[in-house]
Amino acid sequence: RNILILNGPNLNLLGTREPDIYGAQTLRDVENACVGLARELSLSIDFRQSNDEGELVTWIQQARGHTDGIVINPAAYTHTSVAILDALNMYDGTVIEVHISNIHKREEFRHHSYVSGRADGVIAGCGTNGYLLALRQIAHRLG
Ligand code: DQA
Repeated sequence: RNILILNGPNLNLLGTREPDIYGAQTLRDVENACVGLARELSLSIDFRQSNDEGELVTWIQQARGHTDGIVINPAAYTHTSVAILDALNMYDGTVIEVHISNIHKREEFRHHSYVSGRADGVIAGCGTNGYLLALRQIAHRLG
């Protein structure tokens, strides 16, 4: 079972970026936690981050046929990117959308997600634990 975990713009600065909203864990901490849980769940994961919308689109395209699921935190592209939605619409594995913060509790412009139109599940407001919940959900769906 191969799972791609994608992180969008500014998540490279997790831990120092608005820690009151996003917490103290770095993206490396999140990756390490995902690697540990993946081992337990017998999943193989590929954990990536990009500040570039096109690069995220390319990675989603390349995941077709090679992976069983994608966990994606599209960050700000959640609210703007038809291109990421279109790429996910060509992907036939399980897609779980993750947001560290509860986007529905925040500014109005964060309430709409293009990606949710494709996601099989959405996790928001559970902090970085959301990534682990997403992996558990994918493992559950794959059986
Ligand atoms: C985020 C929420 C987005 O609105 C924001 O632009 C982010 C992170 C989250 O994980 O809570 O960069 O996706």
